[in-house]
Amino acid sequence: MVPSPADPSKICNKEKKLPPPLQLNAPLEVVDPEIADIVELEKARQWKVLLPSRFAESSEMKSSLGLELMPLNNSEGCPGARYYGGNEYMDMAESLCQKRALEAFRLDPAKWGVNVQSLSGSPANFQVYTALLKPHERIMALDLPHGGHLSHGYQASAITDTKKISSVSIFFETMPYRLNESTGYIDYDQLEKSATLFRPKLIVAGASAYARLYDYA
Ligand SMILES: Cc1ncc(COP(=O)(O)O)c(C=O)c1O
Repeated sequence: MVPSPADPSKICNKEKKLPPPLQLNAPLEVVDPEIADIVELEKARQWKVLLPSRFAESSEMKSSLGLELMPLNNSEGCPGARYYGGNEYMDMAESLCQKRALEAFRLDPAKWGVNVQSLSGSPANFQVYTALLKPHERIMALDLPHGGHLSHGYQASAITDTKKISSVSIFFETMPYRLNESTGYIDYDQLEKSATLFRPKLIVAGASAYARLYDYA
């Protein structure tokens, strides 16, 4: 039975405070029981709710990521070309991760490289844009209400509001393409017309919530 977040008596346990040096070795439940209880509530929630891009990692996965140690190191740069010493094992871990990523997508390492440093999907998308475009060059992507993602440059509708919701739409000029709402497929004809006028440097062919294959032809 998971305590309800609205039940503060189950969440707060401030009695077990330790002196600072001991806190370094103590588990979270002892150092900060309030946060530990919230983490347990979230763990129970994730266990029950399946989301496509979110999942609870097993303890084995967490320890394989070395979460206790690896993020403590400064490792700017790339394997073999860092800004600091002491990165020989970070280099080993990152090179192995790159090798596995290329294998997962069956890519030839002689032709392809891979950046495995992104913290998550949104910064990864931003890295792609900044690698390929100059500031304020143009992007077209599937509109967020039609299955696209914030990091594809979403801005609120020009009719109701002109707010630039995502940082991508601040740093780049973005225009959405949309679905044909009667078929649920991307409206490629309209996309072509808009692209002919807008002349984007990049068209994002990917989505958060579009269950069809993209017609690249
Ligand atoms: C297509 C797409 N890009 C980017 C993201 C953002 O990923 P993150 O939340 O890991 O930054 C998502 C998240 O659902 C996504 O579906």
